[in-house]
Amino acid sequence: MYNSTICSFMLSADYILQPRMVVVRQSSVSCTLKNQSVRIGHCTKVPRNENLEKLQHGYLFPEIERHELRHLRMYPNANVIDLGIGDTTQPIPTLVTSSMVDFVRGLSTVTGYKGYGPEQGEKALRKAITVAFYKDFGIKPSEVFVSDGAQCDITRLQLLMGLNQKIAVQDPSFPAYIDSSVIIGQSGKFVDETGKYKNIEYMTCGPQSDFFPDLPTISRTQLIFFNSPNNPTGHAATRKQLEQLVDFAKVNGSIIIFDSAYSAYITDDSPKSIYEIPGAREVAIEVSSFSKFAGFTGVRLGWTVVPEELLYSNGFPVVHDFNRIMCTCFNGASNIVQAGGLACLSLEGLRAVRSLVDYYMENARILVDALTSLGLTVYGGKNAPYVWVHFPGSKSWNVFAEILEKTHIITVPGSGFGPGGEEYIRISAFGQRDSVIEASQRLKYLLYLQEN
Ligand SMILES: Cc1ncc(COP(=O)(O)O)c(C=O)c1O
Repeated sequence: MYNSTICSFMLSADYILQPRMVVVRQSSVSCTLKNQSVRIGHCTKVPRNENLEKLQHGYLFPEIERHELRHLRMYPNANVIDLGIGDTTQPIPTLVTSSMVDFVRGLSTVTGYKGYGPEQGEKALRKAITVAFYKDFGIKPSEVFVSDGAQCDITRLQLLMGLNQKIAVQDPSFPAYIDSSVIIGQSGKFVDETGKYKNIEYMTCGPQSDFFPDLPTISRTQLIFFNSPNNPTGHAATRKQLEQLVDFAKVNGSIIIFDSAYSAYITDDSPKSIYEIPGAREVAIEVSSFSKFAGFTGVRLGWTVVPEELLYSNGFPVVHDFNRIMCTCFNGASNIVQAGGLACLSLEGLRAVRSLVDYYMENARILVDALTSLGLTVYGGKNAPYVWVHFPGSKSWNVFAEILEKTHIITVPGSGFGPGGEEYIRISAFGQRDSVIEASQRLKYLLYLQEN
């Protein structure tokens, strides 16, 4: 049965719909409020989490996917090249997948069956992580917590710290730091004029300051999210920059949450871990991942390091609370996936996954060469699989839309990573080689057309 009705109901003081005619079919009609879809029909008496109401638009990458789908509806035959989301494309080395297959087969045997494992991760894998990534920096296996990925750990770290903390983030930065801060309730409202949330310290990291914050101008916050090599700019912080960051945290009594998800892509002598910096054990947590290092974006495996020396203001060790969070809110990574992670960290495994990283970095080189030859100012691509391209005076969503419309290439508008990303687009090097070559040619042709 169809009912005609006037849609004028109120969700909260902020969400007053413009009265307009909608057709209600029992409880399954939806309409859009501030870019968010609501269904009209029976409502429970449960109010929506007000922190989620504060979030702007959708999460960036689903938003880009919506643009791609709209584009495909307009150009159903277009050969769209996706250099947007930053998802890996190359097959995982057989040596790694075989270890997971063997583990799975074992699960069907009496001797090979395993149930719950340690919530913190298998001992052998925790040890292998310390050897592969922290050999000279004194990290112990007991300080390593294996997880289902860095993004999940970022949210668990916010849960660990709670809502009465203020965070600082690089601007531009990977959106999960800000979004998780908003969701947990640390932030104020979003301010349209600035493109920023209140009660979050945005640390501008542009080329003027070698992609590092001007620390004397940054207010003290309890937490500092810092990602190096950085997504989206591709900049790997230098040793000197990280020494300054650690000093800054020490002076302010802050905790750095250092995201090293792309450390495998560093080709120069920039530090791959915050623990290369003396004193970092007292001020820093590190989150990292097998996603971009071994093509585990879908398989899901990451880790977080919480050193014993990291203490709250009352002297209590943070590591004990993180252990509690992992036991209560996680319960351990899949044992199948951990077998794969362990295989990645064997000598042969490291060699095999290194070839994946090299492949993507060759893609990055092709993209950087093509874009530079067009006279564009290009950053990144040397220590990270992301190329950060400047379009002075242009809005990044307009550049994104024009590139999509004229070349059928998906990129990511820089402003999606914060107001500091305006005028930029990010191009991912995580593609098939022939797509990357084709994309470079299309971009060259676009510029040729614009100039002639
Ligand atoms: C900086 C950064 N950290 C973390 C992640 C997420 O990693 P994971 O797949 O381990 O959740 C990403 C994914 O793109 C990222 O760019």
